[in-house]
Amino acid sequence: MYNVGMIKFKKNDAGVGALVAIEGQGDIPFSIARVYYITGVPQDAKRGAHAHRKLHQVLICLNGSVTIKVDNAGQQQEFLLDDPGEGLYIGPKVWREMYNFSPESVLMVLASATYDELDYIRDYHTYLQDTRGFFDKGETR
Ligand code: TYD
Repeated sequence: MYNVGMIKFKKNDAGVGALVAIEGQGDIPFSIARVYYITGVPQDAKRGAHAHRKLHQVLICLNGSVTIKVDNAGQQQEFLLDDPGEGLYIGPKVWREMYNFSPESVLMVLASATYDELDYIRDYHTYLQDTRGFFDKGETR
């Protein structure tokens, strides 16, 4: 799917517990400018529901699980994040919604730029209008 993909990190879990290290150079396909995390989301709540114009992100569920639905102007796919050893890369021009947060879940996000509200497309119809020409020109979904 265009601008979406899972990334596996190296998990050191042969001893007691597990340790995952993420190195900016190599593990993440952009340079990290911001880290934020989402906690305490009620199980029936939905977050996200937006796309970014330029931002690249990797979403990692550090504890519990969450479902991420990505949408490339009509083509949709769901990803279950339940392993801190993997991350979901989401690039520009991809609509995303997050739901089914398990109790005590922690969703960490690595982002390529600092927070900028102007980079958000928060209305789905605007998103479809803004990307229509782009996907029509044959970008692989
Ligand atoms: P928002 O991106 O809408 O959250 P979600 O997509 O998960 O539903 O952000 C929620 C609020 O937090 C909004 O008021 C903007 C603020 N915010 C920051 O101040 N810095 C950040 O890095 C992010 C991601 C959000």
